[in-house]
Amino acid sequence: MQKYFPLICLLVLLAACGKEKPTNRIDSKIDSLISVMTLAEKVGQLSLYTSDWDVTGPTIREGYKDDIKKGRVGAIFNAFTAKYTRELQEMAVKETRLHIPLIFGYDVIHGHRTIFPIPLGAAASWDLEAIEKSDRIAAEEASAEGLHWAFSPMVDIARDPRWGRIMEGAGEDTYLGSRIAEARVRGLQGKGIGEVNSVMASVKHFAAYGAAQAGRDYHMVDMSDRVFREVYLPPYTAAIKAGSATVMTSFNEYDGIPASGSKFLMTDLLRGELKFDGFVVSDYTSIMEMVPHGIAADTASAAALAINAGVDMDMQAGFYEASLANLVKNGEVKEELINTSVRRILKKKFELGLFDDPYRYSNEEREKNTVMKAEFIKAAREIGSKSIVLLKNASLPGQDKQLLPLSKDVKQIAVIGPLADAKREMIGAWSAAGDWKKSVTLLEGIKSAVSTKTNVLYAKGCNINDDSTKYIAEAVRIAKQSEVVVLAVGEGAWMTGEAASRAALNLPGIQQRLLEEILKTGKPIVVVLMNGRPLTINWIQDNIPSILETWFLGTQAGNSIADVLFGDFNPSGKLPVTFPRSVGQIPIFYNMKNTGRPMDRNNKYTSKYLDEENDPLYPFGFGLSYTTFNYGDVKVSKESMTGNEEISVTCSVTNAGKRAGEEVVQLYIRDLVGSVTRPVKELKKFQKILFQPGETKEVSFKINGNDLSFYRKDMTFGFEAGKFEVFVGGNSRDVKMAKFEVK
Ligand code: NOJ
Repeated sequence: MQKYFPLICLLVLLAACGKEKPTNRIDSKIDSLISVMTLAEKVGQLSLYTSDWDVTGPTIREGYKDDIKKGRVGAIFNAFTAKYTRELQEMAVKETRLHIPLIFGYDVIHGHRTIFPIPLGAAASWDLEAIEKSDRIAAEEASAEGLHWAFSPMVDIARDPRWGRIMEGAGEDTYLGSRIAEARVRGLQGKGIGEVNSVMASVKHFAAYGAAQAGRDYHMVDMSDRVFREVYLPPYTAAIKAGSATVMTSFNEYDGIPASGSKFLMTDLLRGELKFDGFVVSDYTSIMEMVPHGIAADTASAAALAINAGVDMDMQAGFYEASLANLVKNGEVKEELINTSVRRILKKKFELGLFDDPYRYSNEEREKNTVMKAEFIKAAREIGSKSIVLLKNASLPGQDKQLLPLSKDVKQIAVIGPLADAKREMIGAWSAAGDWKKSVTLLEGIKSAVSTKTNVLYAKGCNINDDSTKYIAEAVRIAKQSEVVVLAVGEGAWMTGEAASRAALNLPGIQQRLLEEILKTGKPIVVVLMNGRPLTINWIQDNIPSILETWFLGTQAGNSIADVLFGDFNPSGKLPVTFPRSVGQIPIFYNMKNTGRPMDRNNKYTSKYLDEENDPLYPFGFGLSYTTFNYGDVKVSKESMTGNEEISVTCSVTNAGKRAGEEVVQLYIRDLVGSVTRPVKELKKFQKILFQPGETKEVSFKINGNDLSFYRKDMTFGFEAGKFEVFVGGNSRDVKMAKFEVK
């Protein structure tokens, strides 16, 4: 079998000679290789199968090692460690006729071994540098474990918290989501594909997956082209412009066609308009799923639909392998199309340097010296604290000081709740190769933060999601003995992520009952929320003095929270998603349209509920600090501009408290009259700024025509003349406003 190898090497070498540029050289090498590949070998390159090391979907293919040896697969996912990837790579390189190396992929979503906050939590930091750094570290660890490819970033805009996958993205806003998408691609890909400490990004899920109806995962999506282009598309575009090497399709349909069979999405838009030049991988078995979708009569037709649409690689369905050769033979698929996909995939293999050294990422020494390095753990602790959102901080009756931060010298503190000492939950869903046993719980974090004289008591109080009341009495007992109670409630990590939609957004199990019983003790309570989605926590807001939203913060969760609880870190996170008062308000997001009958409580015939407010419990962009920021009036450098000019919008912001603190100063725009209706507010800029106590800064933003642009009535993208309002504030609700006009 190996007898052709020298000949192939010669061909490849000849093609590589001459005075060509490196990209041309790669292209000629690829051409030479393709010219000697059989159809079956080509199809093999287009198949991606999971190993049995992790389960991230409904099927596991038996015999993946045999697939590798027989050249039936071009890439493997859910396999990692330097040793194991080397072992599998050797099978591909030594045992197949053409010795083509494999690509190894994995869901490195918020860290690989060192786990960072879930992406929704990290988005709450509004700290692009920190997010980029977290993905840089993830890439260093993943690449040291033989991985070349992260199935990340997930940039699906999500406006429905019932959808469990809201935890994987940056929340509801297009602008924030787009900036984070770029930061994540930069972090993963570092100085570029081919650097041994970088991995390829795979922006996903293309497209509009976050709009699953009723928040039910895998459910249908139906939206206008306008909403798609304005709200959902920009984060994918941003990631592609930032250089994402690959794109993953989505499970949903778009305009009646499942994404994995949509030529509009995968070719016209992606390649034509967005100029994407990497390769496209289908999501897990989504090619096969076009049969139940009702768009393909059988799996062979599904495979034909996908390849003709422009999907280069089939994840786990196995139907490229089963059908493509026949489809080519009977003329339903052109071999040239297959060559194009093979070329795209081989190109990435060349760029990754796998043809020079297929084992360059599988280096046990590097792995040992890289994973969970002290500096990575430190970074996880920092970004963890940055991701925490202080939702409420009241003072207790008769005191002028707010409950938080707590004193480290408190005599006795009760740490209660099903999430207070829950190691497994800390790293959240999609935690890659993270070892939950290495995570720090809240109880552990508190114990290491307080003074040696402090007595820390602990009781679980109840389980996360069952009805047993047997632990409550003990929790009440220790609460009564303590000066203050820290109560950790929320969801299990498994309650968000893929296939984890919920119809209710309240605290699961009997956690509400636990809260009520502890409240009766009269002790001051800090609620520490852990959850992967907005929850309906009106009762907590009404009854508990201090509330911290901590999501799932990863490996260092307990330390990150303790840093905030005891004031070593002044919270600065802001919600990247609206928190509704009740499920009935969903979808609820800050940049809604005004309607023709905006709400007026005194007028029955206006847009509102009989039994609920219109406004959310906490608006998008909201988050408090241990200090207070005062916003002055908003000033514009000129009240009238042409679209080609730029204006400055300035606002003086003062830290009116006694602690230094960071504030996310947010700028929103409203276009008052357009050729199509415009949202009541749209985030256009933000800056995260550190203020010393008493310090005032003039915070200035520049606005130009591009910031005011949208898809006009005729679907061209641009601005329109007319009146605008510009708002500046610390969240999307509490803002100061100025006006200007575009001539
Ligand atoms: C299905 C998920 O939708 C996708 O995000 C993930 O990358 C793949 N499974 C692989 O695990």
